[in-house]
Amino acid sequence: MKLWGGRFSEGLARDAWALNASLEFDQRLGPQDIRGSQAWARGLQKAGILSADECAQICAGLEAIGKELENHEFIFLETDEDIHTAVERRLGEIIGPLAGKLHTGRSRNDQVATDLRLWLLDYLPELEKAIIGLQTALVTRAEKDMNVMMPGYTHLQRAQPILLSHWWLSHFWPLQRDRERLGQLAQRVARLPLGSGALAGTPFPIDRAALAADLGFDRPSLNSIDGVSDRDFALEFAFCAALTGLHLSKLAEAIVLFCSAEFGFFELSDAYATGSSLMPQKKNPDVFELTRAKASTLIGYLTGLMTTLNGLPSAYDKDLQEDKVPVFNAFDTLTAVLPVLANALGSLSINSGRMQASIDVSMLATDLADYLVEKGIPFREAHEAVGKTVQYAIAKGKSLDALSQAEFQSIHPKFDQDVYSVFDPANSITRRSALGGTAPEVVEQQLQTAKEMIGIK
Ligand code: ARG
Repeated sequence: MKLWGGRFSEGLARDAWALNASLEFDQRLGPQDIRGSQAWARGLQKAGILSADECAQICAGLEAIGKELENHEFIFLETDEDIHTAVERRLGEIIGPLAGKLHTGRSRNDQVATDLRLWLLDYLPELEKAIIGLQTALVTRAEKDMNVMMPGYTHLQRAQPILLSHWWLSHFWPLQRDRERLGQLAQRVARLPLGSGALAGTPFPIDRAALAADLGFDRPSLNSIDGVSDRDFALEFAFCAALTGLHLSKLAEAIVLFCSAEFGFFELSDAYATGSSLMPQKKNPDVFELTRAKASTLIGYLTGLMTTLNGLPSAYDKDLQEDKVPVFNAFDTLTAVLPVLANALGSLSINSGRMQASIDVSMLATDLADYLVEKGIPFREAHEAVGKTVQYAIAKGKSLDALSQAEFQSIHPKFDQDVYSVFDPANSITRRSALGGTAPEVVEQQLQTAKEMIGIK
């Protein structure tokens, strides 16, 4: 069925029809389309356009279609251009010509914008749940690996010793912000375009505030032209998804690296590693590599949608039909990756001996400078002295803790016999006890706060 055949004497060419049709991807909006239409029918009734009986018939017919869709009994026809057309066509089959009254004062332009918003409001919580799943895996790891020390890196160069738990939790907070962002996005999604008509508004006395409440929106949009063309929410969703992708990718990359023989910090479980068709010894981190690649694909969805929106003429343009593809794909990508990543993290084994052995004494150079600071030396002078000490040790082919006290004193007189107490990585870690630091007691607090954020006591 075509919804716009009246002014045409010839049908749309087959190839143009195929290009124009969006049913393939927008049938996913079926349940939202039904709900939106039922609310619209109620709105029309309140406005005196439909009788109570007509409204009831339309709503019941739509309800039956909803069931058909749910049970996969709905038969789509080749002539169904999109989900909106399909539902209206089927409504006519079920309730007869009365179906023709449903589209009064409404356009597919405000209808589709409403459906996509409804879909996001329905599915954002599911994405949040998947993110919480990974946050839970990180928290569980942090708890389990609490006493493991590791080298912390900047520029991928050994920097300072840290707790592995602190590192795990460093991947928790970005996800927390991602969830915050989704919550803020939901507020902007919850503005109802329905009642904007094609672009100029609806001429019937529809109470749009009541309509918004009926559909669970916070309020109606206030400009009909903006109402039908605003896709900021879809773009924001694509951004949120891409950013979460980046966060996952950063974590995945670290795991790929730490699983290499050169690092040897982690070992993949068999269940989350793959083999090589040629090299029998290989255990490959495909799950983590694919996570990295999915992030790139998510950036592609964002870029694609942003480019689609760039420079569009006012109000509705058919380009907007393409908005659903990146939104659905981004959602599907993340909800596929997140649980696998969570499980894979849980099944990693940790080589704590190797991690600890990789903390070399030079990583305590900052602590050595801090030692002088505690003896009253200005930090800049202490930094210089320790730099000289490092240089001296390298020249002598010794590690810092192998220098004699006389050698230390020759560089700075404030190096006393107690200087050797600095060369314990556990001390270095424990000293960093200001809020947010790597000391066990504050990491423990951090862990508690993190657990509260995801509803675990
Ligand atoms: N399938 C269309 C979409 O997804 C519905 C809106 C069609 N509007 C129109 N003016 N042709 O955007």
